[in-house]
Amino acid sequence: MKKLIISILIIITINSFAQKFPGLALTPPMGWNSWNTFQTNISEDLVKGIVDSLVSSGMKDAGYTYIVLDDGWMSMQRDSITGNLIPDPKKFPHGVKALADYIHSKGLKFGLYNCAGTKTCAGYPGTRGYEYQDARFYASQDIDYLKFDWCYSDSLNAVEAYTTMSKALKTAGRPIVFSLCEWGSNHAWTWAANVGELWRTTGDIYACYEGQKDMGTWKANCLMHIVDMNEPLRKYAGPGHWDDPDMLEVGNGLSDGENRTHFSLWCMMAAPLIAGNDIRKMSAETRSILTNKDVIAIDQDPLGVQGFRYSTKDSLATWFKPLNGGDWAVCFVNRSSQPQQINFNWKNENVNDTLSSLQLNAATTTYKIADVWTKKTSSTTAKPFNAAVQPHDVIMLRLIKQ
Ligand code: GLA
Repeated sequence: MKKLIISILIIITINSFAQKFPGLALTPPMGWNSWNTFQTNISEDLVKGIVDSLVSSGMKDAGYTYIVLDDGWMSMQRDSITGNLIPDPKKFPHGVKALADYIHSKGLKFGLYNCAGTKTCAGYPGTRGYEYQDARFYASQDIDYLKFDWCYSDSLNAVEAYTTMSKALKTAGRPIVFSLCEWGSNHAWTWAANVGELWRTTGDIYACYEGQKDMGTWKANCLMHIVDMNEPLRKYAGPGHWDDPDMLEVGNGLSDGENRTHFSLWCMMAAPLIAGNDIRKMSAETRSILTNKDVIAIDQDPLGVQGFRYSTKDSLATWFKPLNGGDWAVCFVNRSSQPQQINFNWKNENVNDTLSSLQLNAATTTYKIADVWTKKTSSTTAKPFNAAVQPHDVIMLRLIKQ
């Protein structure tokens, strides 16, 4: 009898947490989102152009899958009779289902945006009070991804608001990746592993390297500011539930070195890789950064362990990320405005990751060294690694277990 009661309690507990669709986003989601470049100036023609470029540029082959329309895809009012959301008929004359069909026909997936509050950040109808109705609408439009923001949320309880939407999506029956966007204000990483697949850890990103950018009533975050906030949260991330340090600004005005730094660190942190540039017009350099398969493989590694900053000396930080099969990723990050010299003697270092219980011990194991940016394979960890890192740039390596 006692055993039976315990079993029933276990089943009830598991079911009350099992509100997510299983197996979504086992590696960090990859895709494109309209916000960073276009804000609310979006349209069917624009999105189709982006989709076609995503395919022709090799980004689809590199793994970018989700095409997400951010704020501004709706009409200002819900349907006065049904209460349904209405896609803006001027921007999307054929509705969003037709766009979903187009995107699916290219072998890609489609996402939309809304907000837990009464309005979206740009003032369009929010979901508060319409959670189940909106979830049914997304399922009926064949949506695969929902980004759910936190504007006009007033005194809402974040756990309740996001859990309700998560349950609504599950009830609507279509597997939809649920991207929480409460900017870290309610520490979603401590409660959202069973609510969604990814959660923002910070306020909005801006294409700048260090510090914050004053936007008048709020402050946007430069890359390294975000990195400092996201790095300590590594223990909360893993397959199916990722820390999200916001979408990519690669190709949006940073220098090539800064673009490489941005992309490398997002990959070291197992971050979702959601491009935010105009990929119809990107430069060859931006394209080569965004489609570097060796760097992406570090982000998408099936072990799903978020990397960590191992040491910092004179503004030169050394990062490590354990990979499946005993390999390691290493990234040397020069945060200063002077070139910095790396003199790294692998054998003298004790890289012991208590989170994954994995250890890099170069004294007993020799690893082959592959530079994932220059593609050079230089020697092994038997010898110290010496190289110069340019200002605001990185050197990123894969240590391959022999
Ligand atoms: C918030 C989010 C952004 C973007 C805008 C849209 O600021 O954090 O990523 O979705 O809203 O209005």
